[in-house]
Parts: sequence; C-alpha cells; structure tokens
Amino acid sequence: ALRSLSARRFKFSSLLFLLSFSPRTFSVDYQKNCFQKDGQPFRYISGSIHYNRIPRVYWKDRLLKMYMAGLNAIQTYIPWNYHEESPGQYNFSGDRDLMYFLKLAQDIGLLVILRPGPYICGEWEMGGLPAWLLNKKDIVLRSSDKGEGAVDRWMGKLLPMIKPYLYENGGPIITVQVENEYGSYFACDFDYLRHLTGLFREHLGQTVVLFTTDGGSVGFLKCGSIQGLYATVDFGPGKFVFRLVNQYLGVFVNSEFYTGWLDHWGSHHSVVSTDAVTKTLTEMLQIGANVNLYMFIGGTNFGYWNGANEPYSAQPTSYDYDAPLTEAGDLTKKYFAIQNFHKIPDGIIPPTTPKFAYGSITLQKVPAGILERFQTITINITGKAGSRVDILVENMGRINYGKGINDFKGLVSNMTLGADVLTGWTMYSLNIDEAVSQGVLGKSVSSDPPQPSTLSLPTFYGGSFVIPDGIPGQIWINGFNLGRYWPARGPQVTLFVPSSILSTAAPNNITVLELEAAPCSSGPCSVEFTDTPILGVTLHSKPISRLFSKDLL
Ligand SMILES: *[C@@H]1O[C@H](CO)[C@@H](O)[C@H](O)[C@H]1NC(C)=O
Ligand SMILES: *[C@@H]1O[C@H](CO)[C@@H](O)[C@H](O)[C@H]1NC(C)=O
Ligand SMILES: *[C@@H]1O[C@H](CO)[C@@H](O)[C@H](O)[C@H]1NC(C)=O
Ligand SMILES: *[C@@H]1O[C@H](CO)[C@@H](O)[C@H](O)[C@H]1NC(C)=O
Repeated sequence: ALRSLSARRFKFSSLLFLLSFSPRTFSVDYQKNCFQKDGQPFRYISGSIHYNRIPRVYWKDRLLKMYMAGLNAIQTYIPWNYHEESPGQYNFSGDRDLMYFLKLAQDIGLLVILRPGPYICGEWEMGGLPAWLLNKKDIVLRSSDKGEGAVDRWMGKLLPMIKPYLYENGGPIITVQVENEYGSYFACDFDYLRHLTGLFREHLGQTVVLFTTDGGSVGFLKCGSIQGLYATVDFGPGKFVFRLVNQYLGVFVNSEFYTGWLDHWGSHHSVVSTDAVTKTLTEMLQIGANVNLYMFIGGTNFGYWNGANEPYSAQPTSYDYDAPLTEAGDLTKKYFAIQNFHKIPDGIIPPTTPKFAYGSITLQKVPAGILERFQTITINITGKAGSRVDILVENMGRINYGKGINDFKGLVSNMTLGADVLTGWTMYSLNIDEAVSQGVLGKSVSSDPPQPSTLSLPTFYGGSFVIPDGIPGQIWINGFNLGRYWPARGPQVTLFVPSSILSTAAPNNITVLELEAAPCSSGPCSVEFTDTPILGVTLHSKPISRLFSKDLL
C-alpha cells in the first residue's frame, strides 16, 4: 500500500510539473490590447504562403527563407475544392499534404495562422468552394443554405485533423480564421456566421482564438464581424485604416498587408514598390500592430486552379504577386528590405535556385482525328441531318469574388442551328489531366469523320521538349499540368517549370493543347525553355474593369 501511494504521489507531482512549466496558451489580452503567448505579451510578423501553389519538395526551402527573413509566423488558406474534388473523396497526400506542411512549419520554428474557409477568395477557382456545390442549381453560396450539409461534412472532416496542430495541443497554429472577408459579400447572413462559429468551436474547442478578416472600412466590418470572433482588417501600402475602424478592433491586426498585387490576362503586370511597402510596414510596427504580409511568396496556379474577377476577367497561371520571394522562390530586393525590420535568426538563407535554359524543343501533332469531334460554337459547320455535334468548353477559372461566384461552366445558354434551339445535350467534365498522363490522347475518341470548319480545332501537340505565339492553351510536362499560356494577351509570357517535375532518368514528355488555332500546320512548332521569367508584357490590352473589392480599399 505504501509503494502504491508513493507511486501515485510521484505521478501527481509530475503532472503539476507539466502544468506549471509547459503552459502552451495563446489568447487575446483585452486589457493590454495585445496577444498573450504562454502568458507573455506577443506580436507576430507573419507572411502568407499557400502550400497549394508550391510543389511539396519546395515547401521546406520557402519556409526556411521566410524564417530567415525574421518572420515568426506564416499564414495559409485551405482550399476546400483542392481537398474534396468530388463529394466525399478527400485528398491530403503529396502536394496536398496539409498536415506535413504544418509540421514542417513548426519544425522550422514558425507559428501558423490558419484560414480554413470554407470560402477563401484567394484568387483561387471559385474562391475555394467546390464546383459540385452548384449541382444544387439555386444554391445561395456562403449563406445558411449550406448545400445539403456539405459545409458541415467538410468541416467535420477537416477541423478534427487540425485540432492536434493547435498551439494549445502542442502544434504551431495560434489563430484560426472563420470565413473570409464576409462583409464584402451581399448575403450578410449572421445565422451563417454563427453556425460556422459553432462548428469551429465544436471541433476545435472553446479556447483557440477565432477571428475574421474584412476590408478596412466600417461598411465591410458591419456584416463581416460578429461577437465571439476577433475582428481583423486588411489593407495595403499607403493606407492606414486601424483608427478609422477602431470601434471594431482590439489588438491591431492587418491580416493582409499587400506586398504586391494580383494580375489578370490582358492587363498590366502589378508591381508595388519596396519603399511603399516598407514605409507603411514601419508605421504599423511602430504602433505595435500584428502584421501578415500577403503574399510573402505567391507561387503558381498550376492546372486549372486560377480564379477570376467580375466582370469576367481570369487570373493568369503565375501568382508571383511581386512578392518578396518570387514565384520560383528567388530572393529579391523586397525580401532584404523586409529582413531589416527585426532580429534575423542565426543561419544561412537558402540560395536562389539555379534556372536552366534547356533551349528549344520541336513538337509534333499527336494522331490525326483526335479532338476533332469537338467543335467551336461560332462557326459554320457542315454535316448530314442527324449528325452529332460535340463541343469542348474551356473553363478559364471560376469567379472567386463577389456575387458571381455561382459560376456555372459548360453550355450555359441556348445553342442554335440556324433558327432552331438544339436540345438534348449530355454534359460531362473531361478528366484531361488523366487523359494526358495516361497517354490516351493517341486514341481517337470519335468514329465520326472530321468536320470541316473555318476555325482551326483544338489540337494536342507532343514532344520529348518559344511557346507558339498568339493563342491560348495548356501545357503538361510528364503529365504535370503546368497551367495556361496566353502570350497574345499577357502579361504572363513564360510558365514556371519546377525542376521537381523533370526527369533525368527518362526523356521528358511535353504535351501542349492549342485551343483556338493550330499554327503548326504550316511548319514545325517548338517550345523554348529559358532561364528568366517574363511576367510583365501586355501585348493586347482588353479594357477591363478594375472594380473589385481590394481596389476599393
Ligand atoms: C492526391 O493529390 C496528389 C497531389 O496532387 C496526387 O498526386 C494524387 O494522385 C492524388 N490522389 C488521388 C487519389 O487522386
Ligand atoms: C459562314 O458562311 C457564310 C457563307 O459562306 C459566310 O458568308 C459567313 O461569313 C460564314 N460565317 C462565319 C462565322 O464564318
Ligand atoms: C432558350 O430556348 C428555349 C426554347 O427551347 C426558350 O424557351 C428560351 O427562352 C431560350 N432562352 C434564351 C435565353 O434565349
Ligand atoms: C516519356 O514517354 C516515354 C514513352 O511513353 C516513356 O518511356 C518515358 O518514361 C516518359 N518519360 C517520363 C519522364 O515519364
């Protein structure tokens, strides 16, 4: 009995030891207007990095560069549609391995500010919402109309995975954002915000600091902030709105301080001067504000993941953002200017990775007949009565901001032949990545004879490695979807090719989908590998409205 009593006493005292010496807590101190980490006043200087825009093999390099810039935290979104491409089919592996990303950040010494949505905006396809939500045709997205429980199911999957990574549970996550800039959305549905808050509390517990982010004006904060969620704002260089919206704020937090800006096809490449960034950053830090630099590294919208704004204007493949680290992770003047703001940790900054100009690779047309079954809509077609018409619709990216996020794709209006409306369509999405990686493009998909037309047809070109000028299209290397090119529009002319997708063991295979014309019919086509990105050439500027949220701030 004596032995067991002393054993119990020993256990008891070691428990006390843990409680008194490892108090992992993170909270808001409303008296002193600051965050408290482990009972001490704390301020973060963070940077945004989206794991979904960077191949996994580079995560460590980019995070280390952020740590060596003197940041103590990073901020990332979680795009729902990246992890649940089909209802109930979740993917958290490879480049989508969020848990590995969180662990890596922690190992490097960075805290994490997490923005799990469900809506994220982020210049990402449909603001991160899965397009399959639109199967319910009249759905009001981002409202109490939760798509037959899809939001609850997703959060019920995601948040329990997140929970062990909270700071209080030994992980790196100090704060979690609910929704995103909800005050800019027309619905202004507080029941929805309350419902989300309840879900987050149910799955993450009562103590984690939950917050909202909104544009820096009373108008935005009215519908975006709600009791129980800590209100933060976002604004760029030259703006300083903390005091204008002081009534909503406690600790001053700028959740998106813009180091650069996004691009659109057909508009000029956005550039923000280093001086403008450091001037406003100085002002914010002087008053003790917490700041997240958006973006610290932008990365790439690989595949079909870019979003669009209204009136319809799609974002290009590059999400370089003129950020302190380039799309390829290179160190810039802006990086070193920001590094001057705080104590830099000991250690070596990983160097800029070398780029190789592999030169020019000639391409061949992949077998005749392929995709000729697809016809373009505004053309003269010839055919027999009773012939089938097939149409390939390229999606260009779904709207990620504003009222138009219910962005249906496919045939969204009447098709007419002469005066007759053509009905009875069967619509399906083409798993083009799979088709490319399995090499099935070599097989004809139609037994119908090719139909003559006045426009050239979408055509695949392959080569084993100068982007043809003039036309938009898509490029894969070894089955990896690098994204869209549209040099005639600009401002992006080159595509970033991560070395991780290239092979030294086998010949590298490149596939190019030409969407509007086939310039190679008159001679050989080629793709050129250069060592310098070209992101700022606008050859053909289409008048586009710049009237979307962040410009209004
Ligand atoms: C999951 O995502 C990774 C990274 O994009 C991809 O390589 C893998 O094939 C996906 N898994 C499934 C089952 O789709
Ligand atoms: C269709 O063909 C007619 C007759 O040849 C021609 O006048 C017209 O311009 C053509 N339309 C298009 C869109 O090519
Ligand atoms: C589309 O066609 C249907 C008849 O099939 C017609 O009732 C409808 O008004 C048409 N819609 C538009 C936008 O023209
Ligand atoms: C390129 O395609 C060839 C022929 O299908 C194949 O043998 C080779 O492994 C492919 N290369 C890579 C890097 O996948």
